[in-house]
Amino acid sequence: MSGLRKPLMLTGLQPSGPLMIGNYIGALKDWVGLQATHESLLMIADLHALTVPQNPEVLRRRSFEFVALFAACGIDIEKSAVFMQSHVSAHTQLLWVLNCMTPMGDLQRMTQFKDKAGRRAMDAQVGLFDYPVLMAADILLYGADLVPVGDDQRQHMEFTRRMARKFNSTYGQVFKIPATCTPRTGSRLMGLQDPATKMSKSDPNADNYVALLDPPEVIRRKIRTAVTDSGSEVRSGASKPGISNLLALYAAVSGERTESIEARYAGKRYAEFKNHLAERVIDFLGPIQKRYRSIAGDWVLLGEILRHGADLARERSETTLARIYEAIGLVTGRQDDRRISSPRGSTRGQPPDFPVPSPARALPKRRNAMGTEETKELSTSATAATNADAECLSDCCVCCCCDTEEECRMEE
Ligand code: TRP
Repeated sequence: MSGLRKPLMLTGLQPSGPLMIGNYIGALKDWVGLQATHESLLMIADLHALTVPQNPEVLRRRSFEFVALFAACGIDIEKSAVFMQSHVSAHTQLLWVLNCMTPMGDLQRMTQFKDKAGRRAMDAQVGLFDYPVLMAADILLYGADLVPVGDDQRQHMEFTRRMARKFNSTYGQVFKIPATCTPRTGSRLMGLQDPATKMSKSDPNADNYVALLDPPEVIRRKIRTAVTDSGSEVRSGASKPGISNLLALYAAVSGERTESIEARYAGKRYAEFKNHLAERVIDFLGPIQKRYRSIAGDWVLLGEILRHGADLARERSETTLARIYEAIGLVTGRQDDRRISSPRGSTRGQPPDFPVPSPARALPKRRNAMGTEETKELSTSATAATNADAECLSDCCVCCCCDTEEECRMEE
């Protein structure tokens, strides 16, 4: 990424279901366009996805799928930083600080929480309750100028602004108030089986959406079985939510105006319209799927994209976090931060010599242990490191994380 002096846009999508055509039309397409005028931080909100149960394997696979699909849809990784929320620990660190300033009542009033928790709010997970606070942390860490989100996130944006103002008035100007909340342009697609609810990737019924990676025969079936309305005219209108939605989809994938589509199908049957629509959708998704296939197997590239994105996001967010910690009176513990954190009232202007714990000496050695033949797999190596710790705490070992027996005791 170059220059960095363009306005900053930050946004995120949860890997809570497969990316689908509503995400492309309502979000990704706009993000691709905004890259020209904005510096872009595109976050895969994997921690937010944990607020509802996820299958670990599916979550991991889908996260990579998102990266590859972002690129396949036109996100230019030279211009945009794509990163996993969980790779940047400042998000959860700020979450805690904000938690300590958030009244429970504010979160109880959130429509999304009420919708998802239903009547059993006391049985809902704390993470679901806390969702808006993590989102506020995501945004405030970067001082984003523009946060493109869907309508359903407006209340969370309002909450973010409120928290930023509250923090600033208590501790001084740290946060930029995210003034702009541009609703996603483009049409909002509704469920194929239930046109009264928004098309959503986390819908348990996969027939409600067309996934970006659905094969042609699946797309044909989903559109053929989509709900239509009584009557037979292919016309948009309040009394025809099913057909209106299919017309919106047609318009989005073809770039045509709704009126001209209606004119073309005047006097034609729903079935014919739906058949043509399915072919249009297939043609539209074909090039995306082709690009996806050429990227998806390239683990080196995908890893590189995420590393690059996380480096950039960390660099920015850690600077903000240090300012926040400073403002609220935490003694910063890292060598780098001591420059920022001289105590107020210190006459000599020198930071005092706080005992700063030295980084665990064990680390380089442990890294070596992770690079051995048996530990090629990342997951295996994580387990190995954990096991090494466990050993160290039980029997002394002169293990991979201690040079001498003496040192090992010290760690205990
Ligand atoms: N809550 C957003 C959604 O479901 C995803 C998200 C998480 C997000 N953190 C964000 C969007 C920060 C914008 C900015 O759509």
